[in-house]
Amino acid sequence: MSFDPTVRPRDHFTPRRGWLNDPNGLVHHDGEYHLFFQHHPHDLVHGPISWGHAVSADLVDWTELPTALVASDDEHMWSGSVVHDATNSSGLGSDGVGPLVALYTSFDPTTLRQAQSLAHSSDRGRTWLPHPDNPVLDIGSTSFRDPKVHRDGDGWTMVIVRADDRVVDLYRSPDLLGWTHHSSFGPEGSVEGVWECPDLVRVPVEGTDEAADVLLVSVSAGAPAGGSGMQYFVGELTDAGFRSTQPARWCDHGADCYAAISYADAPGTGPVVQGWMSNWLYADTIPAADFRGSMTLARRLVLRPDADGLALLQRPVVRPGTVACELAGTDVDGEQVLPVAARTCRVVAELEAGSAQRFGLRVRVGAGERTTVVVDPAARTIAVDRTEAGTSPHPAFAAVHTAPLPRRDVVRLEVVVDVASVEVFADDGEVVLTDQVLPDPGSTGLTVFAEGGTAHVRSLTVLE
Ligand code: FRU
Repeated sequence: MSFDPTVRPRDHFTPRRGWLNDPNGLVHHDGEYHLFFQHHPHDLVHGPISWGHAVSADLVDWTELPTALVASDDEHMWSGSVVHDATNSSGLGSDGVGPLVALYTSFDPTTLRQAQSLAHSSDRGRTWLPHPDNPVLDIGSTSFRDPKVHRDGDGWTMVIVRADDRVVDLYRSPDLLGWTHHSSFGPEGSVEGVWECPDLVRVPVEGTDEAADVLLVSVSAGAPAGGSGMQYFVGELTDAGFRSTQPARWCDHGADCYAAISYADAPGTGPVVQGWMSNWLYADTIPAADFRGSMTLARRLVLRPDADGLALLQRPVVRPGTVACELAGTDVDGEQVLPVAARTCRVVAELEAGSAQRFGLRVRVGAGERTTVVVDPAARTIAVDRTEAGTSPHPAFAAVHTAPLPRRDVVRLEVVVDVASVEVFADDGEVVLTDQVLPDPGSTGLTVFAEGGTAHVRSLTVLE
């Protein structure tokens, strides 16, 4: 029994070959979602990074295209963003048609300099032309990276980190080419790791006409599940800059969601983000054959008021799926095996604690293997236990990741299970745990369980 790295995830993007980390340049344009990504096509570890490229109509099925920005000996293409310059403010479009414009960090492996460069595409992202005046923003730093640009009135705003300083800088530009420093935010919140991959999004407040500005910041160390993770600041963006209006919170209590940024121009209400499903602590130890690394599911963001302010909710973009098994109005005492064999599935459930001390789901169950999603109503927590989930490639991997669960009597769960991951969205996405797991392909069992009493299954649906 062991994990088989040649079996690909079904609903999570993986590169044809080589190494993948952060998503880059997420944009919806001309009916396509573009996912660019940090890519070393010739090796299974980080190295001279290019921008890989894939497109999708629905954020679930991806088609990989040729490498978009190719690394050279003196320029590695680090993380950044893409916008559609619809008004051709850059003047780089032809025949008055606005181009796609990428802003990315040029990393010089000799001097370690990190400066921001621009490339544009006039053929729907298929081919890219670096600007002759690159870099377009250079402060002479070895710790200045990950520009994320969005349209702002007539011009553009960029958020970018001074990573070692734990600062997000805002820059403004009328034309994407010339950038002026506007304001700075930080250090604040978690500062144990360096800051990376910022994004500033406007998120609607559920059930109201209101919205708030939310700053997403990835931190390379000190996250709740160990290693790298993401924090968010709810706040407001004014002419003076961004300021937080409540303390920082963690986006995810699992170990494996990093560097998530939003899709520019995504249709629908509220931002859609997607992250790298790994952790710098052990990313290069994950068993691999042809490729190493995958993305999380895309998630739509919304805010919901709670006792301390506003909570950021994440709702996954999923395949509708067909019902494989259903339960309703059943009591569980002990472990109930569900009549399905699922290597990949989605479970949607509403569970009530009853007298149980612990209850939840076990997925990817096999001989000696299981990943447990467990609610402890007295402690008001939900956890993903991957201590018996299969292969453990690193000492920090086999661990229990625990999140506070504000509502404790009825728990709404959406759990997306794939070949090498479990993503848990509890209470409508208010509590999220994203975890890689490395079970045997034959571990396909699914159970619902209650310990120390009886739990009540109001409803449970397994979708395949
Ligand atoms: C985040 C990160 C970015 C950098 C990129 C390099 O995971 O470290 O800050 O641009 O990866 O691949």
